[in-house]
Amino acid sequence: MTSSFIQVLNGQPKNPVPIWMMRQAGRHLPEYLALRSQAKNFLDFCYSPAMAAEATLQPIQRYDMDAAILFADILLVLDAIGLKVEFEKGVGPLVETVEPGQSLNKVAIETIISRLSPVFETVRRVKQSLPAHKALIGFCGAPWTVALYAIEGRGGTDKSMARSWAYLHPVALQNLIDLIIEVSAHYLKAQVDAGADAVMLFESWAEGLPDDVFQTIVCQPNAALVARLRELGVTVPIIAFPRGAGTVLGSFISAVPVNGVGLDTSISPEFVNQTVPETIAVQGHLDPLLLIAGGKALDQRVRDILIAYQHRPHIFNLGHGVRPETPIAHVQRVVDLVREGL
Ligand code: CP3
Repeated sequence: MTSSFIQVLNGQPKNPVPIWMMRQAGRHLPEYLALRSQAKNFLDFCYSPAMAAEATLQPIQRYDMDAAILFADILLVLDAIGLKVEFEKGVGPLVETVEPGQSLNKVAIETIISRLSPVFETVRRVKQSLPAHKALIGFCGAPWTVALYAIEGRGGTDKSMARSWAYLHPVALQNLIDLIIEVSAHYLKAQVDAGADAVMLFESWAEGLPDDVFQTIVCQPNAALVARLRELGVTVPIIAFPRGAGTVLGSFISAVPVNGVGLDTSISPEFVNQTVPETIAVQGHLDPLLLIAGGKALDQRVRDILIAYQHRPHIFNLGHGVRPETPIAHVQRVVDLVREGL
């Protein structure tokens, strides 16, 4: 049975549209917090197939979402490459930084991928428990976003150090990006081999780049990753998420042949309909802060988004992840509204 989520990614509009939410598994769920308290730290949690599989399935059990997203993190790839990654409570991730001339290619790809094998076991376990009409999404960080963490050591910065590499150390930046592409392609292929029905590339830090730099460090690497995946024989749908692309979303879509595109909170549905060809599924938009606020404004926005995309393949989602302070009742309300359909 093909899930409605996969049908939409294959270009078929649905009413009601399938729904899932970025960070649907996470700290807004009491059952996640209970599970999380059993792990020594966040990396251990991600590398424990039993716990990670349970976390992946929690939002399916509670909300009956149409897709589950593998419980893992985009920074596992850097950990596997050999950079120290820590998740500091209240601070977020901290990554051992790389220097411009530093060679990271010392470890064979097979060794790097084998370090990630608990993640593939998580995928297998989730697939065994997931009903056939639900999809499982595998994922990785897109090359620029992962490179940014390796250069800056953390997210949420003004990105000036990583951006400067594009001018001061273009070869070092390209080498780092190329390594991330190769590792990510094999990582995603292994997720698909283990049972993932689609994959998503999180380019979370794509905003604020000059258009020419956006081409070389966002569009080209995403396109190279997609090409490499196809070359490795991966046939499942691919979703890109160039968060913050803004006015250059069109050039991203022209350069990167994906089945679906994630939309952040900042672009309007009108702009998206003019910019993204109707053959490409759209997913996203709803502001996670409106999800927290709730009320009539939330109901209205959900309907507006459904109406804006009613004639094209559309998957309901947020413009960024569910935040820890989000009321469960509001998430449930959105699921109910989307299920009512138009
Ligand atoms: O439901 C899901 O989406 C679960 C799987 C998932 C996580 N991280 C779990 C997680 C996914 C798809 C990610 C992707 C991710 N990780 C991104 C891309 C999406 C985005 O948010 O832009 C990024 C940039 C990261 C890096 C990262 N990991 C940050 C910035 C943080 C700290 C911020 C935060 O929300 O705490 C993390 C930690 C993290 N990853 C948590 C979860 C559930 C919280 C850790 C905890 O439980 O203590």
